[in-house]
Amino acid sequence: MKQKVTITIDGNSTDLPVLEATEGTNVVDVRGLIKEGVFTYDPGFLSTASCDSTVTYIDGDAGILTYRGYPIDQLAQQSNHLEVCYLLLNGELPSPEQLQSFEASIKEKQYVDKTFQNIFSGFTQGAHPMAMVGSAISGLAALYHEETDITNSDDRMTTAHRLIAMIPTLAAMAYKHGKGESFVEPDPSLGYAENFLNMCFGETGKPSTVSPTIAAAMDRIFLLHADHEQNASTSTVRMAGSTDCNPYAAISAGVSALWGPAHGGANEAVLLMLNEIGDESRVEEYVAKAKDKDDPFKLMGFGHRVYKNFDPRATVMQESCEAVFNELGTNDPLLKVARQLEKIAREDDYFVERKLYPNIDFYSGITLKAVGIPTELFTVIFTLGRMPGWITHWNEMLSAPYKIARPRQLYLGEKKRDYIKMSAR
Ligand code: SDX
Repeated sequence: MKQKVTITIDGNSTDLPVLEATEGTNVVDVRGLIKEGVFTYDPGFLSTASCDSTVTYIDGDAGILTYRGYPIDQLAQQSNHLEVCYLLLNGELPSPEQLQSFEASIKEKQYVDKTFQNIFSGFTQGAHPMAMVGSAISGLAALYHEETDITNSDDRMTTAHRLIAMIPTLAAMAYKHGKGESFVEPDPSLGYAENFLNMCFGETGKPSTVSPTIAAAMDRIFLLHADHEQNASTSTVRMAGSTDCNPYAAISAGVSALWGPAHGGANEAVLLMLNEIGDESRVEEYVAKAKDKDDPFKLMGFGHRVYKNFDPRATVMQESCEAVFNELGTNDPLLKVARQLEKIAREDDYFVERKLYPNIDFYSGITLKAVGIPTELFTVIFTLGRMPGWITHWNEMLSAPYKIARPRQLYLGEKKRDYIKMSAR
């Protein structure tokens, strides 16, 4: 028996079908409401499904996250970021041959055209790397515009491979430009995460000195950030892509949305917050600020729109954090402040009642700090990790019939009124 919801407005009833999910929450299909002359109203989309998808599933109460059905903790323990990129894009884990071919395609596409590299020279050395990376990705739309047919599935997959391949190179170039150092070419002999770290901290022609522990921690950070359902930046990519715009332009819109400190910019904001707190003795003062309704200060790295018990990625990230701390030591005062914050937030009624637990950005922020990644690069690393998710959702949308995203509104402005001549004002 198909479920339905009946809505009665001014005595007129209309049945709205309930669409059943494979996992989790069913949805009321409200598309028929337009005929009844009424809209739904849900600022921030807290109870709105914008699409259907088969990519990622989140159960916020149970702390469940799966990519194509595979639990995030199993993927973090047994897989790696490139294999997860394949899984997200293709829906299934690769055979050895499929993975080898995918890795070869990524290695072949990781180079950035020499002329294109000049895009960075337009920025001052102090420019934020997120601004540079967003511009570089948007610039790729110039390189690959005429040749990209978004209605062709092969072209869409080539676009996906190019973005996954080039984002580490572009991210490293933004970092090097900020340091005033020359770019380091991609090294096809290195793994995905090691190659990124070598392009940031190595020198062309010299062997990589990247620590395997740090490369493993970085790969895990990429993997844990690879996708996350219809979050703000992924929804931005879908909305931009629904206009049939160039895919690189749609992804650049996602980069812009991710940069906000309420979203992917939180990992950088965590470190700025820890720096502002400065010492364990001031943690109580800042926790009081976070609880004060009249104070806009929020604890960066705490809380989540969907996870209301714990962020399963944070649990896995915490393990990586411990491994890195054990290898590098934890005498950094900021890391002691972080531990004190975490302890208080887990015990204080304000946070417990509102289910404000440390999210992935809290642990990824302090892990990146511990491995010596400059704070301004944190959100760029989130961008690098999330690239496969964004382009997978774009491709999923374009692989089936879709409509341009065009929400309506509840109008609360002036009623119709006539123009008043200047002489009468
Ligand atoms: C990411 O959506 C995704 O999937 C995002 C992401 C992904 O992978 O794409 O998971 C990545 O963005 C993680 C979140 C990173 N952001 C931060 O760490 C910034 C700090 N967190 C807050 O900005 C906030 O918790 C949000 C934005 C994450 C969630 O906000 P909501 O769901 O809109 O919750 P809310 O603002 O309605 O807060 C509910 C209550 C409020 O208090 P009351 O009005 O009930 O008294 O909790 C309070 C808020 O004031 N609150 C906080 C708080 N977060 C919420 N109070 C202090 N510190 C905080 N961090």
